[in-house]
Amino acid sequence: METWDAIRARRNVREFTDQPLSERELARILEAGWRAPSSRNWQPWDYVVVTAREQLRELSEVWRGGGHIAHAAAAVALVVDDYAEARDREIAAYDLGQASLQMMVAAADLGIGSGHSAVADQDLARRVLGLPEAKIVRYIIDFGHPADRPLKPIRKPNRRPLEEVVHRDHW
Ligand SMILES: Cc1cc2nc3c(=O)[nH]c(=O)nc-3n(C[C@H](O)[C@H](O)[C@H](O)COP(=O)(O)O)c2cc1C
Repeated sequence: METWDAIRARRNVREFTDQPLSERELARILEAGWRAPSSRNWQPWDYVVVTAREQLRELSEVWRGGGHIAHAAAAVALVVDDYAEARDREIAAYDLGQASLQMMVAAADLGIGSGHSAVADQDLARRVLGLPEAKIVRYIIDFGHPADRPLKPIRKPNRRPLEEVVHRDHW
């Protein structure tokens, strides 16, 4: 897919087929996250990739909006330090947003769907992923082949009108 088509085709996919991702596909998605920009290039992230069904099921319980993880082909947990400083937390969150979207667009480019999940139960996430105490999972991004319909550029996305959002020169 062209980059522009991948950007327009990406949407949150919450129902997946049973088809696994190939190692090549997974490697491409992870490399996209690895290449993401970050503040001062500090790369605050670690990515824990999960493909085992039972582990995915357990991860789907970390937040009530994470049920879709149970049926995904893979999930990538976005792990950072549990920063004491609010500024560090804020910058890390911005950086993780960039890494997330980069992985999601790379997936869309391959026709692979993706979805976000917040994480509420840190103890559960930590146990399932075997994380050290000092780390937290900020978000989980899951991936798989869409069960509803293939990805294709969305002509009319559910967004505020472009002209309302974009301000030229002045507010
Ligand atoms: C920071 C963030 C957290 C999100 N958390 C969840 C979540 O916990 N569960 C979920 O199903 N979707 C989650 N979403 C997906 C949004 O609901 C979705 O991106 C938004 O409705 C726009 O739809 P689209 O991604 O299909 O364009 C999250 C998205 C973002 C950016």
